[in-house]
Amino acid sequence: MITVAGFNTAIDRFIHLDALIPGQVHRARGEQVYPGGKGVHVAQTIAALGERVQLVGLIDAPHRNLIQRRMSERGVLFHGVEVAGELRHCLALQDAEGTITEVLGQGPLLGQAEHDALLLSFRRSVEDSELVILSGSVPRGFATTVYAELIDHVKSAGKRCLVDASGDVMRHAVAAKPFLVKPNRDEISEWIGRAVEDLGAAKEAALALRDQGIAMPVVTLGGMGAVAADDSGVWHARLEAAQVRNSVGSGDCFLAGMAVAMQRHMPLEHALRLGVACGVANAQSEETGFVERSSVDALLAAVEVRRLM
Ligand SMILES: Nc1ncnc2c1ncn2[C@@H]1O[C@H](COP(=O)(O)OP(=O)(O)OP(=O)(O)O)[C@@H](O)[C@H]1O
Ligand SMILES: [Mg+2]
Repeated sequence: MITVAGFNTAIDRFIHLDALIPGQVHRARGEQVYPGGKGVHVAQTIAALGERVQLVGLIDAPHRNLIQRRMSERGVLFHGVEVAGELRHCLALQDAEGTITEVLGQGPLLGQAEHDALLLSFRRSVEDSELVILSGSVPRGFATTVYAELIDHVKSAGKRCLVDASGDVMRHAVAAKPFLVKPNRDEISEWIGRAVEDLGAAKEAALALRDQGIAMPVVTLGGMGAVAADDSGVWHARLEAAQVRNSVGSGDCFLAGMAVAMQRHMPLEHALRLGVACGVANAQSEETGFVERSSVDALLAAVEVRRLM
């Protein structure tokens, strides 16, 4: 079993427009609403790849059915902790050229009881898992050190922890030395204090994270693929997308692929191949943060993996 802590569940609304012009009234050409947030993306992709997965996250009364139905259709065991406030709403506006503009809501401010219920549900879930993923922002009301504390808990339970976070949450998480962190280009640039623009800089950044005690740092670089390091060396993997339709959530699908590979005890070079195939499959499809297993399988052999060091 893999546990995903994706506390800040969102309601995603994807709206198609002809063009986005500030200050104007727009008419939608199409509209979809579905459960979102990085935890949902990671968990539903792990399930699509065939591993057992449970997700711990917030839920509210108005969206309980929508979220529970979708998670059970997708094969995710969902432990929803109900909040009195309303879940975060995230809006994606796509124009006719495919450019996406996102507006991410703040989400509810948690009370102490909700805060504690989420952590209790998390701790219970860790017990029957081999691998634990902490993914995305933490709800308002949590300290930025919360992931660091959860990492300590997971490590002391003898399990591996994978983290995808940004800003101060990421900084504290790195200091707690989880098994894997997955910054993207912006996140690693912020962490290291200068722009990571090429493979050489990504390799140096991955090695710097290794020096900080991260066993398997992974830096994802959008269309340039991903660089990862562990005891076996430093690797780069990439596949050019045939057509990019929506790359939002590619990092989440990438992380899901890596986690599935780790659960199956595959070496890093194979894990990276699966991660990149998932990231590209997501970018090539319309839906945010979900891939079909068949589209991942069709891409696997084409991913170019090479050793950098
Ligand atoms: N335009 C693209 N072309 C080819 N591969 C892509 C593209 N975008 C993403 N990928 C693949 O997906 C992986 C993750 O993408 P990226 O680095 O953009 O993640 P991210 O910024 O964390 O995404 P998000 O946070 O929205 O999930 C990349 O390492 C790459 O393999
Ligand atoms: Mg990301």
